[in-house]
Amino acid sequence: MLSHLLHLQGIDSVVLESKPREYIESRIRAGVLEHGTVQLMVQSGVGARLQREGLVHTGVELRFNGAAHRIDFADLTGKSITIYPQHEVVKDLVAARLARGGKIIFAAEAMSVHDFDKGATGSSPKIRFQHGGATEALECDFIAGCDGFHGICRPAMPAATLRVHEREYPFGWLGILAKVPPASEELIYCYHDRGFALLSMRSPEISRLYLQCAHDENLDGWSDDRIWTELRTRFATRDGWELRDGPILQKGVTPMRSFVAEPMRQGKLFLLGDAAHIVPPTGAKGLNLAVADVRVLTRALVDFYKRGSSNELDRYSDVCLRRVWKVQRFSWWMTSMLHRFPNEDSFSHNVHLAELDYVTGSRAASTALAENYVGLPFDEETKPD
Ligand code: DHB
Repeated sequence: MLSHLLHLQGIDSVVLESKPREYIESRIRAGVLEHGTVQLMVQSGVGARLQREGLVHTGVELRFNGAAHRIDFADLTGKSITIYPQHEVVKDLVAARLARGGKIIFAAEAMSVHDFDKGATGSSPKIRFQHGGATEALECDFIAGCDGFHGICRPAMPAATLRVHEREYPFGWLGILAKVPPASEELIYCYHDRGFALLSMRSPEISRLYLQCAHDENLDGWSDDRIWTELRTRFATRDGWELRDGPILQKGVTPMRSFVAEPMRQGKLFLLGDAAHIVPPTGAKGLNLAVADVRVLTRALVDFYKRGSSNELDRYSDVCLRRVWKVQRFSWWMTSMLHRFPNEDSFSHNVHLAELDYVTGSRAASTALAENYVGLPFDEETKPD
């Protein structure tokens, strides 16, 4: 996305992608696009298929005590979210870059980054990477570290300047992809005595479902039958709502953590997305937050190349972190409200239920959830340039 937006502004870039093209175009990841992420895709000319195939949702359901409560995004915020799998976004962006002569080197493993710090005299930043059995180097003006939580860019920043804020949750998600039409048109976030469950989807034929489980849950103990039985138990309503089952195509366990590294910049090295921050999946913010970083860095680089100003580059980390912390707060809050914690007593359980009752019963509280879920506005939406 960064490479695409920079290209539209006449700025060249090279993408080093560690995996082969087929891998990134089929790997199942996130699926919920915020209103602003959809707008950016459409406005930058890569949204045609998204607009044709994406499923527009104008609300979500919160389910607890065996009853359904809808949060109506359209009514509360005038906005919606779109279900469109991350690997489809990746396909559209790869196609757009290649069609415009963009350079993406697939299966290129970055080994080290050099000469990005302000103090480095005269030499430009470099990335050493392995590709097709050879070691190569890429020289550039700036490095955008979009290499994920386990990438090399964050560890390359001086330990003395990097501050890390972290929270691990004492549970994980057991996620499945199933070949069955979703049992609900909209997502269902369910709080149950036995733990959280989520009904989501990837298309009108494919359901994506999650169950709260231990953070180190062993999948061997989870037959397809046991998974469907547990899902049915957690989603059951007092008016007899039915979950449809079907063949399970994929199973996995997702650990849950919140993580922020700051600052998100050292000299000419910038961190974006999971390289700088991780959110627990509840609320589906990971991809959208990465896109928000891309927006900020694009504006800063345009400012640098078109106006010769480093002001926006200097503000990059602060501008990103303001949003990052709001999104961290929301993801932590959704996670805390909807999961059972180990050794929770009846007091905590009743506080969870009261919070859900309040969030679904109060227009003010519902609006707070809705405006975070559809995506907080960007500066450029609220303030003139
Ligand atoms: C999905 C994941 C989420 O974390 C979420 O909050 C909603 C949907 C998904 O994978 O579809």
